[in-house]
Amino acid sequence: MRDIVAPESARFRHFTEVFAEVVGAAGYQQIIPPIMEDLGVFTRLGDATDIVTKEMYDFVDKGGRHVALRPEQTASVCRAYVELRPLTPWKTWYSGPNFRYEKPQRGRYRQFDQVGIEVLGADDPYLDVEVIALAWEFYRRLGLQQVALLVNSLGEPDDRARYVDALRRHFEAAGDALSEQSRETLNKNPLRVLDSKRREDAPIIAGAPTIDQFWSEEAAAHFATVRSGLDDLGIAFEVNMRLVRGLDYYRRTTFEFQGGTLDSAQNALGGGGRYDGLVEDLGGPPTAGIGFALGVDRTLLACSDEGVFGAPDDSVDVFVVDTTGGREALLITNELRAAGLSADRAFDNRSMKSQMKAADRSGATFAVIIGSDEVAAGTAVVRPMRGGDQVVVARAELLSDLKTRIP
Ligand code: HAM
Repeated sequence: MRDIVAPESARFRHFTEVFAEVVGAAGYQQIIPPIMEDLGVFTRLGDATDIVTKEMYDFVDKGGRHVALRPEQTASVCRAYVELRPLTPWKTWYSGPNFRYEKPQRGRYRQFDQVGIEVLGADDPYLDVEVIALAWEFYRRLGLQQVALLVNSLGEPDDRARYVDALRRHFEAAGDALSEQSRETLNKNPLRVLDSKRREDAPIIAGAPTIDQFWSEEAAAHFATVRSGLDDLGIAFEVNMRLVRGLDYYRRTTFEFQGGTLDSAQNALGGGGRYDGLVEDLGGPPTAGIGFALGVDRTLLACSDEGVFGAPDDSVDVFVVDTTGGREALLITNELRAAGLSADRAFDNRSMKSQMKAADRSGATFAVIIGSDEVAAGTAVVRPMRGGDQVVVARAELLSDLKTRIP
């Protein structure tokens, strides 16, 4: 876990603002779920999911409740849906930290931020296209160029179950040729064996059956509409039948966005898909669901690598330099801030030289300088910090003067 300080913190904030704009413009409304939930909310994500079995921060609280810091927010949104029963389709977006006990490295942290959307109560394949297109538009707004979109369909639950059986048989037949790690994975979740990067597993994985052989007619048609909708919008994608993703709740459409500049273990900038059974697992009625989450930390690393989406300019308009004790600076900064200008000042009655240095460091467009001469004459000096001549203005006209200079 780490501290995020300026200017990176300003990038984080701006990232969320741009995301809120993109999804807000498509009718999504914000949900702020609690950071901690009853453990049971997350164990529904499946006992074959490492995120749940190995990486959760869970503990018993003072009231004896077994709770967990959220490892992700899809389950929380579905739990909220079950409690609130809002009108459908329920289109939500969220942002905030999540916790997973992982091995920290560049792009992988134990506390990390996500922004995401979830839609509950609609089955339409054009919704899948909308969801993917919003992430795509967001990447465009960030200026990221090297993002690859991988899509797959895991079929209806029955299709998926038959596929998992076939995979199990295929991998079991390979016996000891399969790596020890993959044999372990096989016991829990044959799908995840497809994720193995071990060399000895590669030929066995290459010969494994693919999910398309198990798609029902409905699942195949749903996925065909998703693909043609992406084509209609000019969104480039690759169908990757080995894309299984790390959570067990996915059904039908799944997708992942991969960055071009990060190590392959951390190159997933975001991902999502349908999870049509999750609301039911949490005690609600059968409800279709789809969404995605994008990793903020990781996406910003990719932005840095590509030299896009720098920190926004947080510098103030005006820095007030007061060599008469500081009361003038108090009054002027207060007046300017109330009028909507941003203003900073020095404290502790520093020397003129030291205050001018601070003004320079602040990045302010103008310094307003008040010394004993100005107090006596009822004036103030306005000095442009990036070239140009300084002017003397009447103290009473300082605000209106600055307003004409600062757009
Ligand atoms: P996920 O693939 O586990 O999906 O996480 C989504 C993104 O969060 C990843 O692609 C990655 O960018 C980021 N992320 C995950 N773990 C870490 C970490 N330890 N450090 C830094 N970044 C990380 C989900 O969380 C699903 N809830 C997505 C979803 C929403 N599916 C449907 N709706």
